[in-house]
Amino acid sequence: MTRTPLKEMAAWKALESHAASMGTRHLRELFAEDPKRGERMTAEACGLFLDYSKHRIDAETLRLFGALAAEAGVVERREAMFGGEKINLTENRAVLHTALRAPREAVIEVDGKNVVPDVHEVLDKMAAFAERVRSGAWTGYTGKPIRNVINIGIGGSDLGPVMAYEALRHYSQRELTMRFVSNVDGSDFAEAVHDLDPEETLFIVSSKTFTTLETMTNAHTARVWALGKLKHAEAVAKHFVAVSTNAKEVAKFGIDTANMFGFWDWVGGRYSMDAAIGLSTMIAIGAENFRRMLAGFHAMDEHFRTAPLERNLPFLMGMLTVWYTSFFGAETVAVLPYDNYLKRFPAYLQQLTMESNGKHVTLDGRRVDYQTCPIFWGEPGTNGQHSFYQLIHQGTRLIPCDFIGFAHSLNPLGNHHDLLMSNIFAQAEALAFGKTPEQVKAEGTADWLVPHRTFEGNRPSSVILAEKMTPEILGQLVALYEHSVFVQGVVWQIDSFDQWGVELGKVLAVRIIPELESAVEPELKHDSSTNALIRRYRAMRRNEA
Ligand code: F6P
Repeated sequence: MTRTPLKEMAAWKALESHAASMGTRHLRELFAEDPKRGERMTAEACGLFLDYSKHRIDAETLRLFGALAAEAGVVERREAMFGGEKINLTENRAVLHTALRAPREAVIEVDGKNVVPDVHEVLDKMAAFAERVRSGAWTGYTGKPIRNVINIGIGGSDLGPVMAYEALRHYSQRELTMRFVSNVDGSDFAEAVHDLDPEETLFIVSSKTFTTLETMTNAHTARVWALGKLKHAEAVAKHFVAVSTNAKEVAKFGIDTANMFGFWDWVGGRYSMDAAIGLSTMIAIGAENFRRMLAGFHAMDEHFRTAPLERNLPFLMGMLTVWYTSFFGAETVAVLPYDNYLKRFPAYLQQLTMESNGKHVTLDGRRVDYQTCPIFWGEPGTNGQHSFYQLIHQGTRLIPCDFIGFAHSLNPLGNHHDLLMSNIFAQAEALAFGKTPEQVKAEGTADWLVPHRTFEGNRPSSVILAEKMTPEILGQLVALYEHSVFVQGVVWQIDSFDQWGVELGKVLAVRIIPELESAVEPELKHDSSTNALIRRYRAMRRNEA
């Protein structure tokens, strides 16, 4: 199907000229013109409240967002995704992470087969296993209960589980030590196990493909480490389970496929923390809390699928990202959770957003002539305030920010929480309204110092608020960003669900490995820089020996 190129769409052109006029407006004026703006430009769904009033937009912008969505076919694509159509064109796959959190009675078909019963069968199997580990009924080879669980995986098979474990730590079984090994750097594995006893340690090897170099290397090292003490190969069955779509490779590794938790090719790696890839999360927080998280995901799915666009949180957030990226030249989005439990949320979002929308070719193979995915980054507040916020307030770049905060702390301690939250509101206020030279002068500041102490303001941000960090809210937050990413991808006309850009480096690394390891000097056929680096590395390795 040939699509109208984005820049030829009437709504895109209208947004372009509208952006030029909005570019001259200041948030101070927009707020002065409409005293109710801060109450009006908000939307609420499930347990999330979004204040988007501090953005460089007005009613006309929102109207044009709707017009662009209509022209770009956002609603049709959304239906196609939820309906199990193969919208991941380059891999000819359906995109059905929403089926992972569908209720038991739902019917969602891929190639004429209802996938929901399979989803729940795996969830039930995970729940039974998680319960056995948590209760101590699942013992290691020597009969000791499992005290340590290590997830081995990378990318989507790591970032989601790590993020969810950290986010929901408050709900976790504290007697269990949960660790995560992702990097092929041996230090990652060595540090993860250095104080652990193999007799009490369970490894979850998480890999959709079960061929990923880093994960398989770590899994083999784990096996050697475990058998170093356990001695007998049969011990593997008690200390290793797998999460994968590839039963053949799992069996080859020596893991009993009865202890394999499956998922399907219609679940992208970065969309899999609510599939069996979440096994470590379920062991940590229990099946009931895991199901609460799934219910949160599902609530946001339903909101995204049914709410009118003007009140649709993922739609609004997705369009705002398109707005700043494609019309204002913004290169990044800062995600700033004011909740320490969300400390890995920005890292998780980096894969979700950038592996999805970091593309320069449209679905019909043309090079885009507009910017696509911005760089997502961030750190928990208030730490970031004492590090990089200076640049957001007074630097030369436009950096839209997402602030995320909660009304209640899970650890109420004196007035910590009000202090924390006062900072969200203060930062969003300072970014939007700044401080004029007149205000600075009126404080008695010397003339020469005034430019340094002036804040231009007009720096946009969203504030997302929820009651408190719960499994449901985590599910909602993740689904919010998943669907926001989807909206962006549809507008930019890209395939948000493939990741060809990670392939070349993998292939080249495999070619280089023997060149680093060979006992005789290899004949190198790379460019002069790569050749010289490899030679230098080999020489340095000899020195060490
Ligand atoms: O290299 C990128 C990637 O394919 C991600 O998309 C994926 O999440 C990660 O590697 C891990 O893949 P797997 O789960 O197959 O080991």
